[in-house]
Amino acid sequence: MKFIYPYGATPIDGDESEALIPKHITLQTELNEWEQTNILEAGKWSFGQKHADILSIEFLQKLHTKMFSETWRWAGKFRKTLKNIGVPPYEISQELFKLCSDVQFQIDQAVYSFDEVAARLHHRLVWIHPFPNGNGRHARIYTDIFLVYYQHQRFTWGSKDLTTPSKTRKKYIEALREADKYNFAPLLEFVRT
Ligand SMILES: Nc1ncnc2c1ncn2[C@@H]1O[C@H](COP(=O)(O)OP(=O)(O)O)[C@@H](O)[C@H]1O
Ligand SMILES: [Mg+2]
Repeated sequence: MKFIYPYGATPIDGDESEALIPKHITLQTELNEWEQTNILEAGKWSFGQKHADILSIEFLQKLHTKMFSETWRWAGKFRKTLKNIGVPPYEISQELFKLCSDVQFQIDQAVYSFDEVAARLHHRLVWIHPFPNGNGRHARIYTDIFLVYYQHQRFTWGSKDLTTPSKTRKKYIEALREADKYNFAPLLEFVRT
């Protein structure tokens, strides 16, 4: 099966695509639909209850597992290969641990507005790129769980579906690229439009 990628997507390598669970899938559109169904189920789990200790590596992995367990054998497992984006695989756990403790510090010390804590968290999570695929979708749901957990409104994320190519997705990726350069203003604006 040949994968088609929207702008700013991370390609899947051969070994990773071997791990596709539904064997009947041969088309990208079928895969997209299958993933979407799996993620919708995870959404119910994500927002249907109060979670404990969301600022933890365990929770980050559990959420990815819930989102992709029917789709990929490596759901919830960290990336083992280098990608064009993300830290080297052997640094993933350490970087996530630092991220969780930094975010806790930012909350405790009220370093930034809550929206800015959440937007920075989102960017750093996709920048670490813990998983072979699904990092964008995972980090967007995770950020929303984080906001709701601390009694804030979910982000609107440009008010469009960000998984398919569009002007809005382009804006999202460009805002993340600005955040790569420590300019968080475009991302902060984007997440509430
Ligand atoms: N320059 C960048 N800086 C930070 N994050 C980025 C950048 N480019 C892409 N991303 C993130 O990586 C995601 C793509 O990674 P991928 O694992 O394929 O996620 P998904 O399969 O959910 O789209 C994008 O949705 C975006 O969140
Ligand atoms: Mg992808």
